[in-house]
Amino acid sequence: MNKLRIAVIPGDGTGPEVTTEALKVLQAVAALEKFQYELEHFDYGGERYLKTGEVLPEGAVERLRTFDAILLGAVGHPDVPPGILEKGLLLELRFQLDQYINLRPVKLYPGVETPLVGKGPADIDFVVVRENTEDMYCGVGGFLKKGTPDEVATQTAIYTRKGCERCIRWAFDFTRRRNNPKGRRLTLVAKTNVLTYGHSLWDRTFQDVAREYPDVEADYNHVDACCMWMVKNPEYYDVIVTTNMFGDIITDLGAILQGGMGVAAGGNINPDPGGCSMYEPMGGSAPKYTGQQVINPIAAIGAVAMLLEHTGQPAAGARVLQAIQAVTGTKMKSQSAGKMGYSTAEVGDLVVDALAAVR
Ligand code: IPM
Ligand code: MN
Repeated sequence: MNKLRIAVIPGDGTGPEVTTEALKVLQAVAALEKFQYELEHFDYGGERYLKTGEVLPEGAVERLRTFDAILLGAVGHPDVPPGILEKGLLLELRFQLDQYINLRPVKLYPGVETPLVGKGPADIDFVVVRENTEDMYCGVGGFLKKGTPDEVATQTAIYTRKGCERCIRWAFDFTRRRNNPKGRRLTLVAKTNVLTYGHSLWDRTFQDVAREYPDVEADYNHVDACCMWMVKNPEYYDVIVTTNMFGDIITDLGAILQGGMGVAAGGNINPDPGGCSMYEPMGGSAPKYTGQQVINPIAAIGAVAMLLEHTGQPAAGARVLQAIQAVTGTKMKSQSAGKMGYSTAEVGDLVVDALAAVR
């Protein structure tokens, strides 16, 4: 494979600190697995917006599109009103780069505490495939009589056959590839009993595509019941496929099951040939902790593992994942900010040390 070209957006708050550790691990694993890569840093985020008044400058998307992948730290700045960076950067890149899969593994690493009493790493190990370009995220809607007692607001959920089919098909393929020894099961999570138009489209599409995958159990849960089962019986799940909004919500629940935002990573994936995907820790920019070296970099390092797995370096990705598990399993006291027993940089160093030992 040619040199891997990665665009790095460290972002705001503690984003740069965790990104530094993620890149430290990338450098170490590249040396061990003998692959080459190059980085280019971009200063997009709250600081730049406050200085220039623009979130992404002209031509930014076209430039980012030429990279094999993007590594994002975190965006979110206390002086920037909510929605601007989220819409102008994160959602903009997801949409413009057509990253129609949001892949969010829910995996409890050894040694990590879960709030679920009596559950361990063997029980909490599933993956959520969240559709990432449609639903209420499209920004379709408006106000009528704004600011009056008669105000009306609409926020329309858009679902297309193409949009749900490509996501569902990818999820079936992924379930097949994952090949869970306990059995391959893909659960559609939706709300077909109430959303009788949009989620009917999802359900019918799911049933159609399922016929092409007789080796995968095609299963269905209502989203409310799914929240209950994720807590009561997480071991039931193998792969979940769901809509953008529901995927957003249930993956926060998933994140806490696996030890919290310090651990959870995700990928915004455009699986088409030449597609540019973006990997990120799921946590925010945690501005109050900026520069204190207390934030857990495991999620950002996990994002690098995912990036490598999906960008032509699966052996390196697996190696990083193993090193992470060695560190959570034998070294770290906790996954919470300030309670790890180590600084942000020390956790990065521990993962680098563990890389050499695995395999
Ligand atoms: C996430 C976040 C984003 C989302 C926000 C920041 C726009 O919550 O990645 O889950 O809703 O998708
Ligand atoms: Mn979210």
